[in-house]
Formats: sequence, C-alpha cells, structure tokens
Amino acid sequence: MNMKPTLIAAAISLLAFNAHSAGPEFHHQPHAAGIETYGYTWNSPDQDMNRALAYKASAQRGKSAYKICKGCHKADGSGQASADYPQLAGQHATVIIKEMMDIRAGRRDNPRMYPFAGEWIVSAEEIADIAVYLNHLPVNDSNDKGNGKNLALGKSLYDKDCASCHGGNGEGDARKFYPRVAGQHYEYLLRETHESRDQGRRNANPEMVKVLKSYGDADIEAVSDYMSRLLPAKK
Ligand code: HEC
Ligand code: HEC
Repeated sequence: MNMKPTLIAAAISLLAFNAHSAGPEFHHQPHAAGIETYGYTWNSPDQDMNRALAYKASAQRGKSAYKICKGCHKADGSGQASADYPQLAGQHATVIIKEMMDIRAGRRDNPRMYPFAGEWIVSAEEIADIAVYLNHLPVNDSNDKGNGKNLALGKSLYDKDCASCHGGNGEGDARKFYPRVAGQHYEYLLRETHESRDQGRRNANPEMVKVLKSYGDADIEAVSDYMSRLLPAKK
C-alpha cells in the first residue's frame, strides 16, 4: 500500500486547518528567549505590549472581555488558591499587560492559560481594557495564607530584600512593572518565588533573581507567608 504524497499533504493541511478552527486546546505556547539566555534584557517591550500600553483603555469594555478569564481567575478576580490561580483583582494594569504579553510571546511559560491568552482570542487592546478593569476591582483579603509559624523571619527578609521593589506594604510599583504582592495567595507566591530563584519563571527580574539565589526553601516559605498577610490598601 502506497499512499500518494499529494494525498498525504492534503491530509496534513486538513488537520492543520482543523487545529486552527477548533477549540483553544489546540494552541501550543511558543518559546522565546528568557533569563536563561545570555544577553537577555528584562522588560524590553515588543509591539504587542507597546500597543496595549498606548491604548486608551476602558474598564467597562474590560468587564465584558474578561469573560474568557473568569473560569480560572473567578468573576471577582480573586483567583483560586486550591488550583494555584493567582488573584488578579487590584493588580497594576501595567503588570497585567506585561505578564500577558510575556505569556503570549513565550517568555513566561503558562501552558494552562496560553489557549485563552493568544491574539486569536484576545487583542492587545482588549488586554488593556481587562487590565484597567481588574486594577479597579477590590482585593479579596480572604486569600490563602501560610501556617504563620515564621512570620518574624519572613518580615526581616522581606524588609531587607524585597520591600525596595514590592513596597513596604506589598503595594508594588505600577510605573516600574513591579507586581503588587499584598493579598496574593500563599501557594502562588511560594511557587513563583521558587520558580524565580530556579530560573523557571523566565521573565523574572534579574536583580530579584540575584537576591533569591541565597534563599533556602524555609526562607521562601517564611517570606511568602509574610507577603500573603500584607494588608492591601483599600481603594
Ligand atoms: C485555564 C485557566 C486560565 C484562564 C482561562 C486564564 N488564566 Fe491567567 N493564569 C492561569 C494560571 C494557572 C496562572 C499562573 C501561572 C503561573 O504559575 O505562572 C495565570 C496567571 C495570570 C497572570 C499573571 C499574574 C501575575 O501576578 O503575574 C495574569 C496577568 C493572567 N493570568 C491574566 C489572565 C487573563 C487576562 C485571562 C483572560 C484573557 C486569563 N488569565 C485566563 C490560568 C488561567
Ligand atoms: C529589583 C526589584 C525586585 C526585588 C528586589 C524583588 N522583586 Fe519580586 N518581582 C520583581 C518584578 C519586576 C517581578 C515581576 C517579574 C516579571 O517581570 O515577570 C517580581 C515578581 C515577584 C513575584 C511574583 C508576583 C506575581 O504577581 O506573579 C513574587 C512572589 C516575588 N517577586 C517575590 C519577591 C521576593 C520574596 C523578594 C525578596 C526576597 C523579591 N520579590 C524581590 C521585582 C523585584
């Protein structure tokens, strides 16, 4: 039995066509250079990001565009601690835009979310709209916390090594793309800090990664617990 090459080509293109027209589960995240690559520059904006940052966004439009995100991040933006979905309510719009664009380009690996984050499903302008909508949502402070056993250690590490960027109360810095960490779920903070130390979060800030290199697992647990309890400033 000898299938004709043209027939094989036709079968392949049919499969490819189906993959494009079918559901999001067929989209695979691309891979772009990250912190593991020599000469990598943190936060150098690409076209997609510049478009979103320059756009005059609307929270009202963002509310409707956010529908595709709700299944995981919840209608109130509080995320789900048990499933490791971060709280997005109250996060800086610039941070949301940067993280989305890093995920789209493949600078931050997130295979679970990628099918819902690509340009075929959400435009750069819609991302900007979603980002202002989320920034205005109140932070839910019943977030998941740690066991509370090493908060003194957590505070001393945080004040010494983290507060200069993430702020004394975990408020972050919108202008510099530093995330707010106050009110975030403990499990997520723990995972992201581990991943950043071990270069698994490939879009992480290199100065932060340098600081984290000396951190043992117990330090990471203590500082994550402390961050999860920082009080978000009321909007
Ligand atoms: C299938 C579930 C799922 C859907 C749908 C989803 N996300 Fe996510 N999202 C995740 C997961 C999981 C993470 C955390 C990944 C990690 O640990 O790095 C995440 C992380 C993020 C982050 C990074 C937050 C931070 O603090 O760095 C942003 C921003 C985000 N999502 C926005 C969105 C937006 C906007 C949408 C809709 C367009 C969306 N997500 C849809 C699962 C999802
Ligand atoms: C030089 C500034 C800087 C310092 C110092 C710093 N960070 Fe960060 N941190 C960042 C930036 C920027 C990001 C977002 C990275 C990116 O672009 O994806 C981040 C992200 C994080 C995240 C993930 C937040 C999210 O929403 O996904 C955690 C957790 C975190 N940092 C913990 C720490 C801890 C713990 C320390 C202290 C030991 C620390 N950081 C010190 C700049 C810093």
